[in-house]
Amino acid sequence: MSIITVSKVSGSIGAAVHGVNLGLITDADFEVVHQAFLEHCVLVFPDQFLSVDDHVAFASRWGEFSVSPFVNYLDTHPMVLPLNNRGKSGTVTENWHTDSAFLPEPPALNVLSARNVPRGGDTMFCNQYRSYNRLSPGLQHLLRDLRAEFTGARLASLAGSDEVPSTFHPVVRTHPETGHKSIYLTRPGDSVPRFENMTNAESMPLLQFLYEHSVQPDNIYRHQWNNGDVVMWDNRCTMHYAVHDYGDDPRDIHRISIQGSVPF
Ligand SMILES: [Fe+2]
Repeated sequence: MSIITVSKVSGSIGAAVHGVNLGLITDADFEVVHQAFLEHCVLVFPDQFLSVDDHVAFASRWGEFSVSPFVNYLDTHPMVLPLNNRGKSGTVTENWHTDSAFLPEPPALNVLSARNVPRGGDTMFCNQYRSYNRLSPGLQHLLRDLRAEFTGARLASLAGSDEVPSTFHPVVRTHPETGHKSIYLTRPGDSVPRFENMTNAESMPLLQFLYEHSVQPDNIYRHQWNNGDVVMWDNRCTMHYAVHDYGDDPRDIHRISIQGSVPF
């Protein structure tokens, strides 16, 4: 019988999980993993080398699949998004963001399976619970009722679409499972132009402050990928950043997203 160990990978966010084969995970082990996920926001499972079917089976334990507009999924597995090297100029993820925040019900979490990764191409994560908790009480109070506009402008332009989806979400959201508050944000500008009932110019200084406040080096884990890694993160209380420093090297990672609920 394997014994699961969970050990922190940074002081602020993330844990590595050893002693579990995700392709054969039992209900009891899944519950350990679930609790670790809620506590650490990002989990790293080295040496899994999941088949596509096992990746789908493990991800399905977390909820319904979520698919995003403007991107192409596998024909054989329509919930699996291949993340390949689009070149540095073609990437839209080399910035701090949370995935598909422009949807009314953004994905709750992602499960990634690394199939063939280069040196480099790290993914960074920041802890948005901590970002909220270390704001002053005055600013926490000010943000209490503020909502921001989230748009899919960057993805739409990449796909050549004139239709830009947009929605409003609270900038401080309460996690539906942990009950803790976190800053909910993605890059100010095209993707988050303003607070509700305010102009872009009025909104931008505070949006920019919250963004920079969130991604300070002491609030980050930087994951260096290896083939076989499974990494999952909670989109409700983190942002992430995909570093593109690997030139034309091939990169093959599969992503499955799980449906979330309306942020509150
Ligand atoms: Fe992303």
